[in-house]
Amino acid sequence: MTQTLTLICPDDWHLHLRDHDMLRAVLPYTAAHFARAIIMPNLVPPVVRSADAAAYRDRILAALPEGSQFTPLMTLYLTEDTDPDDVAAAHASGLIKAVKLYPAGATTNSASGVSNFDKVAPVLERMAEIGLPLCTHGEVTNPEVDIFDREAVFIERVLDPIRTRHAGLKVVMEHITTADAADYVRSAGSGLGATITTHHLVINRNHILAGGIKPHYYCLPVAKREEHRLVLRAAATSGDARFFLGTDSAPHTDANKLLPCGCAGCFTAPNTLSILAEVFEQEHALDKLEAFTSRNGPAFYGLPANDTTITLIRTPVHYPDHIETPEGPVTVFDPLMPLNWTVEAT
Ligand code: NCD
Ligand code: ZN
Repeated sequence: MTQTLTLICPDDWHLHLRDHDMLRAVLPYTAAHFARAIIMPNLVPPVVRSADAAAYRDRILAALPEGSQFTPLMTLYLTEDTDPDDVAAAHASGLIKAVKLYPAGATTNSASGVSNFDKVAPVLERMAEIGLPLCTHGEVTNPEVDIFDREAVFIERVLDPIRTRHAGLKVVMEHITTADAADYVRSAGSGLGATITTHHLVINRNHILAGGIKPHYYCLPVAKREEHRLVLRAAATSGDARFFLGTDSAPHTDANKLLPCGCAGCFTAPNTLSILAEVFEQEHALDKLEAFTSRNGPAFYGLPANDTTITLIRTPVHYPDHIETPEGPVTVFDPLMPLNWTVEAT
């Protein structure tokens, strides 16, 4: 039986770090295991202009533990007023690695997102020219569309038309939750990739709704039926270069989760890699873990893989059930199974 696993140091291609006290509390968990992460721009107010991204990057760097080599890969939040020249300048300087599309109202802090896609056509055109990827929160927000169908409808009504209109635009379908999305990614030519979260490989919608409501398993896009989870596991463990890790670790205080109208998001940063190793081992695909966590993402973004490694050791994992933050406790995602792959401290 394999006892140690050494991987090229992983990257997280979709991460929420928040700001200020919460940033300082959660960043060390990601920085301990990951070399780089694509940082989501859904702060309040959002990270809209290049100057906002530069200032946010500096706050992240200032919050890093002493000696950490972690690199935040910044993004801009696409609005109907986004200036193509500002985006192009931020890309040319190396400040940003992607632009994030939130359909208005789709998720936490997405009120400034896009409603009229004609208005963002000039920005998307420029991004296609300069090779800057668009990361999409792939859900429509129309009240008449059932929440479990919103990803599939997004593909048909929004994503496919955008990709047809802006040929050559690189797109990441983020945190995919359905067989429809996995199939769409597989059927598309080059230039379309997808991130898959850790939690969507573990939970289905029963975990949220059966036997009492479980707010800590509520995230967006919401987990779907078991058959979709199985397709996601197959995609993640296949080695297919179009699928890569984006944890979508999204910390909210317990006070904000456990409300009559609680926040969406699972906080997985502390135990993500241990859970993934467990999932890949269950699928007899430990040899594909490095592709998912460390090779496919950089290849899609046109970046080199990291030149450092991490090692996981087969020994029971100890992780806290919650972390303390100045804003209150934040519950760590519970995968409901023992974890046996501990990341070796460096
Ligand atoms: C994210 C958050 O809390 O910022 N929540 C979530 O459920 N994933 C936003 C997002 O990525 O949808
Ligand atoms: Zn997210």
